[in-house]
Amino acid sequence: MIKAFVTGAAGFIGSNLVDRLLNEGFSVKGYDNLTTGFVENLTMAMKSSAFTLQRGDVMDLSGLTAAMSGCDFVFHLAANADVRFGTEHPRRDLEQNTIATFNVLEAMRANGISKIAFSSTGSIYGEPELFPTPENAPFPIQTSLYGASKLAGEGLIQAYCEGFGFTAWIFRFVSILGERYSHGHVFDFYKRLLDDPNQLHVLGNGRQRKSYLYIQDCLTAMLRAIEQAADKVNILNLGTDEYCQVIDSIGWICAHLGLAPKITYEGGERGWIGDSPFILLDCSRMRALGWRPDLSIRDGIIKTLQYLQQNHWLLERRA
Ligand SMILES: NC(=O)c1ccc[n+]([C@@H]2O[C@H](COP(=O)([O-])OP(=O)(O)OC[C@H]3O[C@@H](n4cnc5c(N)ncnc54)[C@H](O)[C@@H]3O)[C@@H](O)[C@H]2O)c1
Repeated sequence: MIKAFVTGAAGFIGSNLVDRLLNEGFSVKGYDNLTTGFVENLTMAMKSSAFTLQRGDVMDLSGLTAAMSGCDFVFHLAANADVRFGTEHPRRDLEQNTIATFNVLEAMRANGISKIAFSSTGSIYGEPELFPTPENAPFPIQTSLYGASKLAGEGLIQAYCEGFGFTAWIFRFVSILGERYSHGHVFDFYKRLLDDPNQLHVLGNGRQRKSYLYIQDCLTAMLRAIEQAADKVNILNLGTDEYCQVIDSIGWICAHLGLAPKITYEGGERGWIGDSPFILLDCSRMRALGWRPDLSIRDGIIKTLQYLQQNHWLLERRA
């Protein structure tokens, strides 16, 4: 039985990954400091004898190294996952996304583990000129501290593959949607509409074009890639072939909630520093492995809303 080590196991993507791995017959050790994750996300996993959770910080190298002992494969998802506030605390992305990734690699090396899957992001493309954007797009100019720190993490992983014989699967996700989703535009809009159903304030002009992917489609792709993509370094975009404008998404959200708020906008093409006005990734590498997403962006947004409607505790805890 493969023993997987999952950093960020209590988070949105991490906890869904844990459930999926357990279903697939892995044994799983989760590692999380619970800064943005919740043990509630692991309620199902906790019922399995193949799962253990250790509360710990990836910045604590010796604790991390000890926790990883006996594992075969590392899924590194722990991060500061919020792109929006980078300039308010410039050190956080460097520490939580780059140094943390270095720690994970060193802990793996100490334990003789050589396989890693890494949750990177489409934000590493900054504002590309090529759409849909392929993995080998011209080397990007960085526009956010988040993207820059993730790209640095990717670089370290690649160098460990070359230098220490590691194998890596680096996934560049668009925004992910679905059950246990706890940050992003659907969360923000829903929360604001609960506070005031008659008005919705939007960062940016609402014309930003974005791509989204449903969590289960994302996980299916990750597991398929790990099984089938056999290079030393496998870099894969993960998204849908469609995009929507922020105003489309607002339309679907409001229709689902039966609301018609007055919408106000702030800013221009970008909602915040580092916001990409257009994100659409070329996922043909992943498609060539026989994967395709099942859910459309609209369906993913509605499923996310339904989850939030049934889990108001999350809105209170993730202020
Ligand atoms: N959600 C998305 O749309 C999206 C898109 C692209 C990439 N990603 C990446 O996917 C990964 C998971 O994102 P998510 O949306 O599930 O975020 P999340 O905030 O829900 O999950 C991150 C988890 O990591 C834990 N964590 C954070 N810092 C830690 C530390 N120092 N030590 C131990 N645990 C720590 C948190 O408690 C949390 O449980 C992140 O690496 C993120 O950058 C997410």
